[in-house]
Amino acid sequence: MWSPISSRKVRVGAVGLGQIFELTSPAYRNDPDAELVALCDLDPDRLALRATQWPNAAAFADLEALLASDVDMVEVLVPSPAHAAVACQVLAAGKHLALQKPVAHTLEEVDRIIAARDAAGVAVRVMEDQIFFPPLVALRDVVRSGEIGDPVGLHLKMVATGLGGWDVNYGSWEWLLKQAQDGRGILVFDDGWHKFAIAHWLFGPVRRVMAWIGNTELAPGFGMDAPTTVMWDHVGGVRGVLDISFAPQTYVRSDYYSGDERVEVTGTLGFARVNRISARGIDQPALEVYRDGELRSVHTLADGLDAGFLAASRAFAQHLRSGEGEPSLSLEQAREVLAFQLSVYDSSARDAPVFLA
Ligand SMILES: NC(=O)c1ccc[n+]([C@@H]2O[C@H](COP(=O)([O-])OP(=O)(O)OC[C@H]3O[C@@H](n4cnc5c(N)ncnc54)[C@H](O)[C@@H]3O)[C@@H](O)[C@H]2O)c1
Repeated sequence: MWSPISSRKVRVGAVGLGQIFELTSPAYRNDPDAELVALCDLDPDRLALRATQWPNAAAFADLEALLASDVDMVEVLVPSPAHAAVACQVLAAGKHLALQKPVAHTLEEVDRIIAARDAAGVAVRVMEDQIFFPPLVALRDVVRSGEIGDPVGLHLKMVATGLGGWDVNYGSWEWLLKQAQDGRGILVFDDGWHKFAIAHWLFGPVRRVMAWIGNTELAPGFGMDAPTTVMWDHVGGVRGVLDISFAPQTYVRSDYYSGDERVEVTGTLGFARVNRISARGIDQPALEVYRDGELRSVHTLADGLDAGFLAASRAFAQHLRSGEGEPSLSLEQAREVLAFQLSVYDSSARDAPVFLA
């Protein structure tokens, strides 16, 4: 078992300094609990760029050298096909680990990471920024308060829009496209992870899944995994639906990734709805709650995509400093989310419902 780092800030190293470093690193500016002290990327240009942004952090061209330094925790921000190998390397060095999503590609990989964590006796947190996104946190509070009665349905919508938001460089797409060709598409696997994690966080484990994963061909041999429809029952009884569409010519304003997203819980007395996550769209209120003929709009919450990243990173730093609470997501929770996600592929391939253990 590890000891809390009570007398000083947590020293953080980051490995993989690409697109998501943009959203991960701001948590370590002026954080009372953690500081970014080391950087690592295989790409010398990326490493040099980030070194100019973080001049007080040591720059390492390979992970072994970073792990030999005095960092306490490593933010693993490398492409997900490399998560298991890099995570196990970090854990073998006895460092705490913050691992990006999706946790890994297979349950066997997650089991290897769990075994490495247990052997090292350190803490691991799998990043799911959206369960820290303040409008979704407020939606869960509304559901748990009973304001909309007993939950009877969960509706998640994702329209992947082609225009608006970050100009993501080709290098950041390249591994995603390769991953898609290997059967783990951008919308169901890479982004879908967030939606399955939200459902699991709201209503717990899933019992039964039915899915149709579609394909929209963009070029010979490559397509987007939409239209896709996924239906499931939680063990607790709530039924969920995820509807994924691809609208390449649609513009949705965003400071980050473009897309039109909705999370809505229907209750016996009304509904609570989050109108956006990654993008700002048409600036509807981030959260709306309907009951008894009245619609309550919430305009007070931090509702940029960055807010969830900040809250998630700060919660883990506080956990490492205090030793209190549990990391969120834990590896065990992340394993359940991945099992749910893999059952979606299984169901679609068999065109039949899949029952989870
Ligand atoms: N939470 C979110 O909303 C969100 C959004 C986008 C990406 N992600 C996740 O973040 C991770 C990275 O995605 P990205 O878009 O930043 O990718 P990216 O391609 O932009 O950056 C990855 C970086 O990792 C470096 N790298 C790869 N292997 C390495 C290794 N072994 N050692 C050191 N450096 C290595 C690459 O050179 C590259 O600079 C993925 O797991 C992805 O799924 C999460």
